[in-house]
Amino acid sequence: MTTAFSLVSGLRDRLQSREARVMTIGLGYVGLPLALTVHETGFPVTGFDLDAERVARINAGERVISYFPETRIASAVATGRFAATADPARLAEADVVLICVPTPLTPAREPDLSYLRRAAETLARHLRHGQLVVLESTVWPGATATVLRPILEAGGLRAGTDFFLAFSPEREDPGNATFTTRTIPKVVGADDPQSLQLVHMFYDRVVERTVPVGSIAAAEAVKLVENSFRTVNIALVNEMKGALEAMGVDVWEVIAAAATKPFGYMPFWPGPGIGGDCIPVSPAYLSWRAGDVGAQVPLVDLARHTNDAAPAALAARILSDIAQAGRPAAGARILVCGISYKRDVEDTRESPALGLMRALEAGGAVAAFHDPFFPVLPVTRDHPDLAGRVSVPVTPEAVSGFDAVVVTTDHTGVDYAVLARHARILFDTRNVIARLGLVPAARDLRKV
Ligand SMILES: NC(=O)c1ccc[n+]([C@@H]2O[C@H](COP(=O)([O-])OP(=O)(O)OC[C@H]3O[C@@H](n4cnc5c(N)ncnc54)[C@H](O)[C@@H]3O)[C@@H](O)[C@H]2O)c1
Repeated sequence: MTTAFSLVSGLRDRLQSREARVMTIGLGYVGLPLALTVHETGFPVTGFDLDAERVARINAGERVISYFPETRIASAVATGRFAATADPARLAEADVVLICVPTPLTPAREPDLSYLRRAAETLARHLRHGQLVVLESTVWPGATATVLRPILEAGGLRAGTDFFLAFSPEREDPGNATFTTRTIPKVVGADDPQSLQLVHMFYDRVVERTVPVGSIAAAEAVKLVENSFRTVNIALVNEMKGALEAMGVDVWEVIAAAATKPFGYMPFWPGPGIGGDCIPVSPAYLSWRAGDVGAQVPLVDLARHTNDAAPAALAARILSDIAQAGRPAAGARILVCGISYKRDVEDTRESPALGLMRALEAGGAVAAFHDPFFPVLPVTRDHPDLAGRVSVPVTPEAVSGFDAVVVTTDHTGVDYAVLARHARILFDTRNVIARLGLVPAARDLRKV
């Protein structure tokens, strides 16, 4: 007879020997690095994704994430112990299932758990005794227990006895060369001792440090606290930027100096707003859940609204400066440089640069873009109407044809000397021109 004890000891043995088959659901910016890292620590791994084209590219060894080492995926595939699949039936083979699907916001800026529900329904059809299921996607405290768990249990298996359920917030930082999936400590939480023991044991074999917490809800909340902290500090530093600029003080110089304080201060840098699927999203999950349980997070909400409004505020500032320089906003041609939400990553989710383009055009200007990662603007979730526009090359002729250029994302593959030399007015939201020592060449440089 199968008992919880025998299921736990069976999985423990397979984790111990690294024979346990691990599957991720989702092979995106989180699922793929995680799948590769698990594989690189000796486990056989299969990544399941609905996107058949992505699956085929991964199985062909293509580098589908730009900041990966050239051969990372190809080397993993060549071992025969790493593969991608679009076949959900393979989930039945897994000993450990890591759910890494998107958890974005609805158009009303509320949690959208539709991807998670769909993934859970797929997994539920293949769930079997003894599997460990770990949710990695960002959710609000209580979502794993009240949304994921009931779907998984609908077929009759019970979490904690028949299968094991845990939450571990993903802390991936795309493009960060200093911290990798393996070196970033992994928080794990579960609502029963068996699940906690198993998830702890699994991640002990994958990452350098595992940090157990006493419940799934605590682990869910860790992610929201981390990202709300960033959201509030980004809003704060952008507020500082405006106030210090009015006082004639360079915020970049001030923050660099403040950052030398060895305790009690952590630098955040100004920018055009926030982007990605984490920083703008998690605080919205926190706020929504707080409202649900009768609590409030007014500071977080103010920061969210400040950050959400940043692209429009920047557009207003740019159009006003251009008008002051003698060019009416109506018809002004503006080049937005950098469409990704962060440097050297080909990811446009929630990118403030797109919101800026939209706001500039709402103000009567004509917005074009340059981005080395996007020869053509793809269809984006928030601004699908901008799709199809073609990246303008950074050449002296092209740049000098614009009334202004705005650096929104400081990708390394951009010729900033050309911008500094040929832009009529250069708005630098990232301080890249000064950082590269190009200031003297700029005709009209404005740090905004
Ligand atoms: N990107 C980040 O930097 C980051 C960092 C930490 C946490 N997170 C969180 O991790 C989660 C995943 O984010 P991501 O950036 O990897 O998303 P992503 O959009 O890059 O990838 C998600 C992948 O899941 C696939 N998918 C969607 N539904 C599926 C389903 N039902 N079955 C199988 N595959 C499915 C998609 O095809 C896609 O390839 C989110 O909750 C996000 O908030 C993201």
